This record gives sequence, structure tokens and C-alpha cells, in this order.
Amino acid sequence: MWEKLFKELSFFPEGASTLAWEIDAIYLFAVAITVVFTLLIFALMAFLVIKFRRTDENFVPKPIHGSAPLEITWSVIPFVITMVLFGWGAYVFFKYSTPPAGSMDVHVVGKQWMWKIQHPEGKREINELHVPIGQPVRLIMTSEDVLHSFYIPAFRIKRDTVPGRYSVAWFEANKTGEFHLFCAEYCGTEHSRMIGKVVVLSQPEYDEWLRTEENGAQDTPVMAGQRLFSQMRCESCHSEGGVGKAPSLAGLYGTQVVLADGSRAVADESYLRESILDPKHRVVDGFSPVMPTFQGQLSEEQVLELIAYIKTLDAK
Ligand code: CUA
Repeated sequence: MWEKLFKELSFFPEGASTLAWEIDAIYLFAVAITVVFTLLIFALMAFLVIKFRRTDENFVPKPIHGSAPLEITWSVIPFVITMVLFGWGAYVFFKYSTPPAGSMDVHVVGKQWMWKIQHPEGKREINELHVPIGQPVRLIMTSEDVLHSFYIPAFRIKRDTVPGRYSVAWFEANKTGEFHLFCAEYCGTEHSRMIGKVVVLSQPEYDEWLRTEENGAQDTPVMAGQRLFSQMRCESCHSEGGVGKAPSLAGLYGTQVVLADGSRAVADESYLRESILDPKHRVVDGFSPVMPTFQGQLSEEQVLELIAYIKTLDAK
């Protein structure tokens, strides 16, 4: 009911994701509070200036020694309002930051000055993102050079892409059509041209779009990652039984690993990336730091493909 009412009242640009109206609602609430208090303060100011204007040259006002009820009122009301904003904001923030299970992983690499995107089925596109309606999409994003920011106003998502690390954002489109895609971080002379479009399709249209091959058959990230895994001779140390010179990678993704200094790390995308490019930084307990770095030998896309493959390795 709130969702429907809100959409009818909204003066925001078109929203096309499941979270759009929730973000608009909290934003509107903050604006409404600001408007109410601004009007209240200015109205009171005008009223008091007139009511207590000086009417007699020799008038001496009665001194005031504070008022407990008044002080409590003007402390408690703002406290309640800010706590509502905080609680509601935190609720939406956690929803916004937690991709639902079963999300489709899409890889995004920003560079001066384009967005390179790859779908789990292998299809690549530049400055365009095709997605099916009603399917949560998790974006695993990084940058090849400088800071960029992946921004889809209609989905109300904006997330910086940072060289050397992954940032994650997710959305679920609930309206078909074409929407703007922007870079929202000044990234050089062509920043203003680093724009594209998001195309939301129905599931059958999306399947059809996936089938149309523009530049020949393409491997999925997992297949490309598997090929890289053997090309780079990863398996000569990371053997399946885990008794080689290096820990087994089977079932590793998402688990906690114990490091040589006794601390722990979660084996997420960022940890895997770091272990490939800077393997001596966080070494797993019980192993020597003998792995060479692959910095400079793999592109950002290839690192993402390797990680996609490692994620599929199940514990035996
Ligand atoms: Cu990329 Cu601005």
C-alpha cells in the first residue's frame, strides 16, 4: 500500500528497481522534516519579533531562568526524529548492501573511458548492460586505472569502482525499458562521455539477446578461468587433494582461512584477487610464501575469470 501511494505522489525521476521507491521514500522523509522545521523556525521568528517588539523606551523585560519542560521537549522530539531516520536508514542500507541469494553475477570493469561488462554466460558488452526483469543482479566491479563511479539513476544505485579492489552493488529491475548509465566520478577529460544505457528485457527477450552472437561464440567466465588456471600452471601447486606446496582451492570461496600470523580472513572475491596479485601479503597458515605474483600478467577481466572459476570448485 505504501509503495503504491508513494509512487503516485513521487516527484522523483522514474524508478525501475525494487529498491528505488524505498530510497526515494527515506529521502522524501528527510526533505519533509527539513521543510517543516524551516517553516516552523521562520514563522516563529517573524511572530516573536512582532509580538515582543519594543513598545516603551524604559521597558525592562522580566528575566527568565530556564524552563525544564521546554528543554525536555526540544531535546526529545529531535532525538526521536533522528532515531527514526537512523533506524530506517540502516534498514534500507543493509538491504541495499546485501545481494539476495541467487543473484546473477555480472562483472564490470571501468577504464578511461568506458564500461566493460561481462555476463555469466560469457557475453561481453561495452557501455551497455542488458538485464532480465525480476532477477537480482550482483555487480562485481573494479577499475583498470582511476576512480570511476557506476551510476544508474533509475535503479538508485551508485558505487565507486576503485583500482585494486572490488566493489559490489546489486539491483533487481522491475520495469522493462532503457535507462541511463553514467560515470559519476570525474575521471579525466572524457569523463562526460563515459555514459551508456541499461536495457531491461523480459526473460524470453533476454534469453534471445544472449543467443545472438555479435562477435563469435564466447566462453563463460568460468570456462575462460579454467583455461587460464591451467595456462598459468596454477594446478601444479594448488592440487586437488591440498597436499601440494599450496592450499587446495576446492570449496575455498566464502570460507574463513587462518593466516600465518594467526589472524583470519574471509575468502571472498577481494581476498582471492589479492592472493593472485600479491600472494605474499596474506599467506595461509602452514604454507611458505613461495607463490610468484601474477601482477602485470593478467588483465582485470582475466582475474575476474579466474575468480569465477575458483568459486565453482566444490569441496570433494
Ligand atoms: Cu569514469 Cu568519470
